[in-house]
Amino acid sequence: MPSKASFDLKQYARKNARIVDQALNKALPSARTKPTTIHRAMRHSLFAGGKRVRPILALAAAEACGGNIENALPVACAVECIHTYSLIHDDLPALDNDDFRRGRPTNHKVFGEGIAVLAGDALLTQAFELASQAKPTPRYPVRDMIMDLAQTSGSLQLIAGQVADLEGEGKKLNQTKLQYIHERKTSALLTCSARLGGMSANCTPKQLQALTDFGYHIGLAFQVIDDILDVTQTTEQLGKTAGKDEATAKATYPAIVGLKKSEHIAKELTDKAFNALKPFQGKAIALKAMADYLLKRKN
Ligand code: IPE
Ligand code: IPE
Ligand code: MG
Ligand code: MG
Ligand code: MG
Repeated sequence: MPSKASFDLKQYARKNARIVDQALNKALPSARTKPTTIHRAMRHSLFAGGKRVRPILALAAAEACGGNIENALPVACAVECIHTYSLIHDDLPALDNDDFRRGRPTNHKVFGEGIAVLAGDALLTQAFELASQAKPTPRYPVRDMIMDLAQTSGSLQLIAGQVADLEGEGKKLNQTKLQYIHERKTSALLTCSARLGGMSANCTPKQLQALTDFGYHIGLAFQVIDDILDVTQTTEQLGKTAGKDEATAKATYPAIVGLKKSEHIAKELTDKAFNALKPFQGKAIALKAMADYLLKRKN
């Protein structure tokens, strides 16, 4: 467990991202495995330099509960596979129609729409294979972890958010409806990442509740910031096309409440996330540092 005085998030995140990348590389069929097109396509998006926020969050949550990285690794890799699949599908012409992602042409631009749909499907399935390899703990059978991941990814959460996002295009939604979208399309998976990390460490019910509150609030803040960055940053900085939300009349925080108020809301949500960490009594330094970084990030 990292100590407060010496804590360096950049170094912590770099080290853990490398561990996650190595585990993902081992878990996925190689690019030479037949059918090669699908494995190349899966790897194109998975190893394109994403920030790895969700797996790092899972690992940090495990450590905050006294667990270790090794036992959290299967669930950490699983949430990154779900995330990457959701991005591949999010970028399709039928959804956000984006050409650029993680600093590369999007999956469908390189491999065509058919393979991009299938690469997403394959990563979604890979996620559950990975989660099934988690180690059960006295409080949490693997079934509970898989159930959490399935509910998060399903038609009441992540997919519900994407449906409402799609149906909200061109409409002036109110803040309640926008929050509904953000809770589901983004916050649910960040919450699940923190929870699964905790479960892999046999967290107490009180710790699980704290991780749920924490993940929920940083998840909401994360999407508010994503909406802000779409307006304030360049395509080069983001590695994805800037200004797309306005161009496609997406319902976003800046569009509905303006930039200044959006920044204020993100800060308030981050403060609530900090508060959620109280039960850890200072033993959640990495989680706290992550919440702070996610608020200040520029990509
Ligand atoms: C982008 O997520 C999609 C949202 C949910 C806003 P990230 O900003 O975590 O994307 P990567 O993984 O770093 O590419
Ligand atoms: C993406 O939200 C959420 C999911 C993929 C579930 P956005 O559409 O805002 O993400 P970006 O801006 O394309 O990364
Ligand atoms: Mg979208
Ligand atoms: Mg998008
Ligand atoms: Mg966005």
